Amino acid sequence: MTPLVEVRDLRYTYDDGTVALDGVDFRLERGETVALLGANGSGKTTFVLHLNGLLAGQGTVKVCGLPVEKKYLPTIRRKVGLVFQDADSQLFMPTVLEDVAFGLLNQGLDAQAAADRARAALDTVGMSAAAGRAPYHLSAGEKRRVAIAGILAMEPEILVLDEPTTFLDPPGQRALAELLGNLPQSKILVTHNIPFATALCNRAAFFAGGKIIAEGSIEEIVAGFAWDFSPERSKSHS
Ligand SMILES: Nc1ncnc2c1ncn2[C@@H]1O[C@H](COP(=O)(O)OP(=O)(O)O)[C@@H](O)[C@H]1O
Ligand SMILES: [Mg+2]
Repeated sequence: MTPLVEVRDLRYTYDDGTVALDGVDFRLERGETVALLGANGSGKTTFVLHLNGLLAGQGTVKVCGLPVEKKYLPTIRRKVGLVFQDADSQLFMPTVLEDVAFGLLNQGLDAQAAADRARAALDTVGMSAAAGRAPYHLSAGEKRRVAIAGILAMEPEILVLDEPTTFLDPPGQRALAELLGNLPQSKILVTHNIPFATALCNRAAFFAGGKIIAEGSIEEIVAGFAWDFSPERSKSHS
């Protein structure tokens, strides 16, 4: 079967000369949830921004067999739902409902259909009661849920979440793991949070220096890179 995501020898250098990706190979099969682990600056965010064409490096990136190229971007952006690390950057409308409906209206859905689908997505993430509230008044955990609802409303096949537990307290982290665990999509989770990754992922890939230097079960990767996940060190992780 065609993998959902297939990346070969991906390389990306920022304008200032920083080599952020230095030959990444990666596959996501249907039904998998994979953790992307590794220190700050190892290339994880740069990598995920290639999955829906927000960045374009050298090498091959395919989603559902389609190359991530200009002519396929509208299709690919419907398939890959990307939730950014900073939920605030994803929420900008006056009300939660309008925020969640925004992408749908942009796709050309009529107002009623968009509002219906947005309400259903808010229901999925347990945020129906906040539909009329202003996003900037919500807690970090609530903002994260609304950002996820905005992505779910687009009915993607793949969910990509960049450090989704940032700013969440432990109960919020657990609630988010429960929510994500109940969603049917295949997922890529960028995280430093080992309990979170262990709860959700069947596989992990470890980034260092713009490459994936190890892949395996969460247990194998955590055991192999124990020092990288020690509590002292993870304090410096955002
Ligand atoms: N906009 C940018 N311009 C220049 N360098 C960048 C930019 N964004 C990230 N980098 C650099 O690219 C490398 C990879 O960063 P990033 O993908 O954000 O890593 P991670 O998500 O693993 O923390 C780092 O050296 C980082 O400093
Ligand atoms: Mg990052």
